[in-house]
Amino acid sequence: MKQSEFKKRRKRLMQQIGVGNVALIASAPMRTRNRDVHYPFRQDSDFFYLTGFNEPDALAVFIPGREQGEYLLFCREFDAKKALWEGAHAGLKGAKRDFGADDAFPITDVNDILPGLLENKSRVYYPMGRDADLDLRLQDWLKQIRSQSRSGVLAPSELASLELIVHEMRLFKSEAELDQMRRAAEVSAAAHVTAMQNCRPGRYEYQVEADIIQHFMHNGLRAVAYPSIVATGKNACTLHYTDNTTQLNSGELLLIDAGAECNHYAADITRTFPVSGRFSEPQKQLYQLVLDAQAAALAHIKPGIPWNSAHDASVEVITQGLLDLGLLKGKLKKLIKDEKYKKFYMHRIGHWLGMDVHDVGDYKVNQEWRLLAPGMVLTVEPGLYVPADCKSVDAQWRGIGIRIEDDVLVTAEGHEILTSGVPKSIADIEALMQADLCA
Ligand code: GLY
Ligand code: MN
Ligand code: MN
Repeated sequence: MKQSEFKKRRKRLMQQIGVGNVALIASAPMRTRNRDVHYPFRQDSDFFYLTGFNEPDALAVFIPGREQGEYLLFCREFDAKKALWEGAHAGLKGAKRDFGADDAFPITDVNDILPGLLENKSRVYYPMGRDADLDLRLQDWLKQIRSQSRSGVLAPSELASLELIVHEMRLFKSEAELDQMRRAAEVSAAAHVTAMQNCRPGRYEYQVEADIIQHFMHNGLRAVAYPSIVATGKNACTLHYTDNTTQLNSGELLLIDAGAECNHYAADITRTFPVSGRFSEPQKQLYQLVLDAQAAALAHIKPGIPWNSAHDASVEVITQGLLDLGLLKGKLKKLIKDEKYKKFYMHRIGHWLGMDVHDVGDYKVNQEWRLLAPGMVLTVEPGLYVPADCKSVDAQWRGIGIRIEDDVLVTAEGHEILTSGVPKSIADIEALMQADLCA
């Protein structure tokens, strides 16, 4: 992504912070996996959104109207030995030259320099209560300034949430962000196609997971946006199943919920298909019901429609379908009012999608469901999960778990499905899988 994109975001942020105030945000730390081994570094999404700076041990400071420079970056100094062992890092010069900082300081000097930057400012915006280390350091810096009050220096008197501003910005995706999201979605969709083509009874869930990750990596996307769920048979009824250790049996469905991350932007796709390549009759009926619920929900994804409408539409279709198939008994309205569908459809229709798989942004504004608007991206993912031990339903339905999940951009005209590269109708899935079996 171009530096001009980050610069634009900082400009918008500065306008909202206002002259006389200041904002702080820290990078993510390196996290230990075990002893001296670290997890792969993943930058904090808000920090990356504003800086494009992909290193730990950094703190960004935004001071609108400051004559000597509004955007300051504290980061690691360049260290030739570190570069030799661990690879390139920007250093102070790079922070200014390559990342647009007006000035850069060693992170080791932050406690000496930062209190001076906060002096006589009214309000400090920062991610409140999210980063315990930053919370504590900020208290210390404020204390230091207060201790000098007799020399006429004023400490900021208000602390405010930086997230309120940044998350509202992140909710509306720019064209540059959509480029990344489209790529994440396309590669992820193709990985699901590969998984369908390679699916055979006797393989293990982790082997299917490996196919998916192989496809991501082969296309340059080296991180998953979240741990992949590869769940055969009744494993699919565990919503966050990630063991991925079971052998696939003919006659079962396989649910795969997997998405790649592309330059910090996520895809989030679920498909459910028969291990053998052919749906059984009960599988077909429940599957078609979930697909119909998704179609009903998608009809509500357009500007001006409240966020909740798609969910309500999916609940109505699913409850009516469960009634028709005999899994629920009673009257539609009362079943919906009493939330009886939750026994089989216990999650909501979806979530915002972006740099984080469950992305930021409020779902309600002034206690009303938010109206959809162009530039928002969300998932639409109804599901049905009939527990294996559910005595209240006929045995043919038990142990079936189905979810169908697509990533959807709200456009001026309605919506665009970013993940349409992977089939989801019964006919298309069977055709794809049979073609491969016959080949
Ligand atoms: N993969 C997590 C979700 O679908 O929300
Ligand atoms: Mn999702
Ligand atoms: Mn998902």
